[in-house]
Amino acid sequence: MNSTKYLITSALPYINGEPHLGHMVGCLLPSDVYARFLRQKGEEVLYICGTDEHGTASEVGAIQEGIDIKEYCKRYHEVHVKLYTAFNLSFDYFGRTSSHQNKEITYHIFNQLDKNGYIEERTIKQVYSIDDEMFLADRYITGTCPYCGYEKARGDQCENCTKVLDPTDLINAKSSLSGSFNLEVRETKHLFIKLPELEEQLKKWLETKEYTWSEVAYSIAKKWLKEGLQERCITRDLKWGFPVPKPGFENKVFYVWFDAPIGYIGITKQWSDADPSLRNWKDWWLNAPDVKHIEFMGKDNVPYHTITFPAQLLGTKEAWTQVDFLKGMNYLTFNGGKFSKSEHRGIFISDAILEFPIDYWRYWLMANAPESSDSSFTFSSFANVINKDLNDVLGNFINRVMKMTLTNFGHVVPEGGDETEEERNLYTFIEDLTTTYTKYLSELEFRKALSTLREMWVEGNNYIARNEPWKVIKTDRDRAACILRTALNLIRVYAVLTAPIMPQTAKKMLELLQISSDNLGWITGSMKENLTTLKAGHAIHSPELLFSKIPPEKVEELVVKYKETEA
Ligand code: MF3
Ligand code: ZN
Repeated sequence: MNSTKYLITSALPYINGEPHLGHMVGCLLPSDVYARFLRQKGEEVLYICGTDEHGTASEVGAIQEGIDIKEYCKRYHEVHVKLYTAFNLSFDYFGRTSSHQNKEITYHIFNQLDKNGYIEERTIKQVYSIDDEMFLADRYITGTCPYCGYEKARGDQCENCTKVLDPTDLINAKSSLSGSFNLEVRETKHLFIKLPELEEQLKKWLETKEYTWSEVAYSIAKKWLKEGLQERCITRDLKWGFPVPKPGFENKVFYVWFDAPIGYIGITKQWSDADPSLRNWKDWWLNAPDVKHIEFMGKDNVPYHTITFPAQLLGTKEAWTQVDFLKGMNYLTFNGGKFSKSEHRGIFISDAILEFPIDYWRYWLMANAPESSDSSFTFSSFANVINKDLNDVLGNFINRVMKMTLTNFGHVVPEGGDETEEERNLYTFIEDLTTTYTKYLSELEFRKALSTLREMWVEGNNYIARNEPWKVIKTDRDRAACILRTALNLIRVYAVLTAPIMPQTAKKMLELLQISSDNLGWITGSMKENLTTLKAGHAIHSPELLFSKIPPEKVEELVVKYKETEA
């Protein structure tokens, strides 16, 4: 029996949308934290992401910029890569849904579905915009949602009630390209996937997930199945996309949501093609019972990953890897609404990385992850958390301990003294919290994990406050040595445990202690061992400030700059 290996995917961001903090917290960052955590635990991990490039959104983007669509995608793919690298996301491969590898796999899956009788032809009525001179992609038609009355619902989905829509369902539909209401419905021939025929299989499969999926994911999937599945159109009248490989459909392409999730597989093949002697994408995707697949996404993506994509794979009658755990996130809001490029609401990654060190963002976002409900971003909350948790608690601990050591013992881990009841209590306390923290990270409960981590930092300060090494040094040098040595060891433990969340900070913490951060393992074994790893005489550096406080003036400045209106 092979041991489990972990396939981690983050929803593939649309190439045309400029990524913002909502994307970051919704899937990119939590998947990175999880991948880093598992790697530190010594697990075999493959972490895949990439740009979702098809669809009208990018076609329109290219037209607006007056460049060829391929050039456009190439350019923006690089922009995404640059931003995610700056954010320290540790993908094993960041690929593209427009790759030839993805085309090959998309065709294979389509042909299997067709061969197995799950594809049917239908003539449908589609919305044609006379003023735009084109059939409009669903998301370029906006109007009122017939289910909840939300006025800015898009033709593909209502972002308010998450209901998947057909553009013709919308009330008062208009083209969001030109704003024109001059729309007409024309007949065209399309291909549909027969989801009703896959419904039973899907239901059975879903039932096996009840106790493992995050609640938002499971309940959305359940709701869909309860309402009953309908045939879904998988082709579009567009130029940009994978041409449909079927006679009579030469001028059509696959719908972006048909090939986008297949992109996880296509991108894995890109990764494996980059070094075929060492890698084989099939080991992760086909007949691979040893693979555990964990997907991260915002809640609007859940139906596609719990219903349509699994159905596409089931219908092939081949043993594709399906999702084992699905982490669906709620929204991060700003000024009372979802982050939105079109409405210029929110903070974009390109700005965020210029304002503060990446680890400040990484910490705030994970500590405030919108898990059980939406959470809102405000600059004052951001400053509060950074100033308290990072400066006053973690930074202050490191700084005090290192300064006291330096002043009294020089650049070494102090020698002398034996552990007392105080240290033994500390071992137990930190060991319990480490167990809890590890459990929360394994369960992808990020908020709980981070508050546990913070509790550990607080305990470091309490330990110092209780034991007063600055006083003890005057009467009992050995005792002071033991306290500071234990505290220095605590910094090492903190660095290891903090690394998935704040990799740069963790690296700096280890550098202060002159420990290499390569091949950083997780904290296992007894805490007594872990808190006595650094021995007397081990050389250390002078302390450096790892964080700096965000002053109220800066908060005010940012509130104005980013037009924050609601606290
Ligand atoms: N591009 C989509 C979004 O940003 C997500 C696609 S996920 C995929 O909402 F799996 F389909 F690629
Ligand atoms: Zn709605």
